Amino acid sequence: MIEYYLESGEEMRIEEHPILSFKKQNQLHFTFNGRPMIGIEGDTIAAALHDNGIMHYSNSLKSHRPRGFYCAIGNCGSCNMKVNGVENIKTCMTLLAEGMVVESELDEVTIDA
Ligand code: FES
Repeated sequence: MIEYYLESGEEMRIEEHPILSFKKQNQLHFTFNGRPMIGIEGDTIAAALHDNGIMHYSNSLKSHRPRGFYCAIGNCGSCNMKVNGVENIKTCMTLLAEGMVVESELDEVTIDA
């Protein structure tokens, strides 16, 4: 598995904006491939992963190249992962919940050339 991360300590979440305000939300704890992570109430799973620096969501079916978060509207399947033991969950459309167990499905679906 190729993993793409931000440097330690970098933040992906916008916390200050010139015209928008963001209400403080509760933290939610979850795991990704066994690693503990923290998201915010109201995040989708994909948004929480992105905020934690996870950029590699799946592999292309044929060439197995890494794919990231793509459409963010539930159309492409690029963000499919196993969530609480259920496969092929579109993480861009699924809200994060306390204690979720999220696992990548990187090598489970392939198309041989
Ligand atoms: S990013 Fe396309 S379905 Fe989730």
